[in-house]
Amino acid sequence: MKSQSNAPAGPKHRPHGDDAVHNHDPKGTPFSEIIEARMSRRDALRGGLGAAVSTLFAGAGLAACGGGGSSSPAATPTTPTTQLNFSSVAGTNADGVHVAAGYETQVLIPWGTGILGSFPAFDDSGATFNSGSEQAEQIGSNHDGMYYFPMNGSNSHGLLVLNHEYSNSGTLYGNAGRTEDGTGAPTVADEVRKDINAHGVSVVEIIKDASGQWFPVNTGYNRRFTAASPMDIAGPAAGDPLLVTPYDTSGMTTRGTVNNCGNGTTPWGTYLTCEENIQGYLIDTSGAVSTEKDRYGINGFGFGYRWANVAGDASEVNDEFARWDTNPSGVDATADYRNEANCFGWMVEIDPMDPTSTPKKRTAMGRFRHEGSAASRPIAGEPLAFYMGDDARFEYIYKFVTADNWDPANPPANMLDRGTLYVARFDADGTGEWLPLDLTLSPALQARFTRQAEVLVYARIAADILGATPMDRPEWSTVDPQTGEVYLTLTNNTRRGDTGNPGADDANPRAPNTHGHIIRFKEDGDRADATTFTWDLFVFGSNASAAANQNISGLTLDNEFGSPDGLWMDPRGLLWIQTDNGAPLDSDSNDQVLAVLPSELPGDRRVEPSTQDHLRRLFVGPAGCEVTGITMTPDYRTMFINIQHPRGEFPGGPGTIPRSA
Ligand code: FEO
Ligand code: CA
Ligand code: CA
Ligand code: CA
Repeated sequence: MKSQSNAPAGPKHRPHGDDAVHNHDPKGTPFSEIIEARMSRRDALRGGLGAAVSTLFAGAGLAACGGGGSSSPAATPTTPTTQLNFSSVAGTNADGVHVAAGYETQVLIPWGTGILGSFPAFDDSGATFNSGSEQAEQIGSNHDGMYYFPMNGSNSHGLLVLNHEYSNSGTLYGNAGRTEDGTGAPTVADEVRKDINAHGVSVVEIIKDASGQWFPVNTGYNRRFTAASPMDIAGPAAGDPLLVTPYDTSGMTTRGTVNNCGNGTTPWGTYLTCEENIQGYLIDTSGAVSTEKDRYGINGFGFGYRWANVAGDASEVNDEFARWDTNPSGVDATADYRNEANCFGWMVEIDPMDPTSTPKKRTAMGRFRHEGSAASRPIAGEPLAFYMGDDARFEYIYKFVTADNWDPANPPANMLDRGTLYVARFDADGTGEWLPLDLTLSPALQARFTRQAEVLVYARIAADILGATPMDRPEWSTVDPQTGEVYLTLTNNTRRGDTGNPGADDANPRAPNTHGHIIRFKEDGDRADATTFTWDLFVFGSNASAAANQNISGLTLDNEFGSPDGLWMDPRGLLWIQTDNGAPLDSDSNDQVLAVLPSELPGDRRVEPSTQDHLRRLFVGPAGCEVTGITMTPDYRTMFINIQHPRGEFPGGPGTIPRSA
C-alpha cells in the first residue's frame, strides 16, 4: 500500500497554503552545475566545532552541557567519540505511535481537553458538539509549535505553551470537508465562534506525578488565546495608517492570532508564536484585490473558512465576523476592514508567566508567513538575532537583529521593537549576504515606499526589491548552542523548475524538490549582527531507494525521511528533525522524529552516504499525522511532541474520531 498525502480523509486539509505561487522569479542554474559547485566547496563550513560536545551521550540520562555564550574556536573535527545509543525504529504506516526501544509514550492534552472555566468535557458524540464558548475553555485544534517553561527549573512542573494551526469543519461542527468554494464553511454564528476559538495558542500548566505520568492542572496560569483575543500591535508599524481598523482607529491594537505554526522563544523567557497562512482566513471579495494583498496570497476565497458568512447576525459584536472579509467596500456596508489582513502575519510575543499579559505583535520582525524564530546565542554585550522563515514556495529567509545589546542581568524591555530586519541572499560560492530592509539605506526601497512601517507590513515586496534568494519553503530554524551555526528546514518545493518558476540553484539544488533539505549557515565573525555569512547543505530528504542524484545524503531504510519541518537543537547539541511529509516515501512511513549529533559527523559535519548510523529515527507517528512541535524538560527525560491531524483512530482507539494531541 502506498502512503497517502497528509490530507485527512474528511475535511480537505490545506497544510501549506494556496497552491498558487506568489513569487515569480525567473532565475535558474542547471542541476549538474549546482551539484558540482556544492561539492567543490564542501569544506566551506568545516571546522566550526571540535570536541565541545564530545563527552555527550545521546539517550536517557544525558548530562546537560554548559550553557551557550562562548563561541568555539575553529578546530579540525575530531574522531567521533559519541554515538546515539538507541536503535532506529522501523518506518511504518500503521496507526498508533512507534518509539525506539527503551522509551515510553503518553498522550497528553488532545484537542478539546478542558483547561479553564468549567473545564468542559470533550463532546465527540458526532450528533452534538461542544459550543463555541466551551471551545474557548478547551485545548484548541491541530497542535503545532510548543515550548515547556519549567516552574523554577522543575523537571516535573511547568507551563506548556502550544500553537493551534487550523481547524477541521467536520470534527468541529459536523459540516462537510472545507473547500475553497465555501463547501463546509460554517453557516451558524456559534459554529464560527467555535472555529475562531479552536485557533490560536494554549497555555497549560502540567505536572508529572510519582508514577511518571503527566497531566494538566490549573493554578491560574492556564489561558487560551484565540482568533478573537485582544492583542497589542507593537514596534515601528504600530499606529501606522495601514493598521487602522474600525476596531481601533489608532492602529495600536487588534484581535486574535491565526494559523499559528512554528514557534520560538526569547532569552528573557517569553514565547513567540508564528502567524503563517493568514490568507486562508482573511479574504477580499471585492474582485479587485490590491497588488499588496495579492503578494500575500489574499484572494476572494482563502481556504474556505468564510467567517464573514455570518456577518450581520443578530448576535454579532463589534464586527467579529465581518472583519474577516477585507473588501474595502465592507461586507455589510458599515465595516471597512480593508486593513484587517495587515494585522496578521506577524511574530507574536506571549509572556506565559504573567497571566495578565497581553500578547504583542512585534512588527519590527516583519510581516510574512512566519514559520520559526530561533534566537541566536545570548552573548552579553552583543545584539541578538532571530532567524525566521517565510513558508511558501520561492519565499525568503529573514533575520531580525536587535538594536539593543543583550544584558542578562537587566534585559532591555521590548527588545523586539527596535532593530533591523534583513533578508538572505545565498551566493553560489558558499557565501551569502544579509540585505537590510531599511528605508534609509536603500534608494530602491525609497522609490517604492514612503515609510519604514510600509516596508515592514509589505516585507515580502521589499525583499523582492532587494534581490533575496527564493527558497524551497523555509520552515523552522534552530541555532547550535556551541557554535552559533543556524540550521533551517526547506521542507520541499514541487514547483521548482516548473515553467515560469525559478529552476535549481546552489541553495535549492533539486528541481522539483519533493523531499526537502536542511541548510546551515554561519555568521561571519560569529556575530549575530553580521551582514555576511557562509552556508552549506546539511542533509537532503529522500527515499532510500532513490537514485544517487536524489538521495544525495545516502539515506537508508533506518533514516529515510521527507519534508523536514520542525527542527530543534537541544542544549547538548543534539539536532532533532520532525517531518511533514507531503511526498510519500516508498517505504510507506508515517511522519517521524529523527536525531543526529552534527558535531560527531566526520569531515564537514554533514550527513553523507558514509555516516548513516549518525542519523537515527526515534519515533514514528500515527497514520496521516504530521509530527511537529518539540521541547523537553531541563533534565532531557521528557520530550514533548505534537501529533497534528492524525487520520486514523489516534489517540482514542476504535470508534473514536482522530484528535491532535
Ligand atoms: Fe504550517 Fe509551514 O507549516
Ligand atoms: Ca501542519
Ligand atoms: Ca510547519
Ligand atoms: Ca510543513
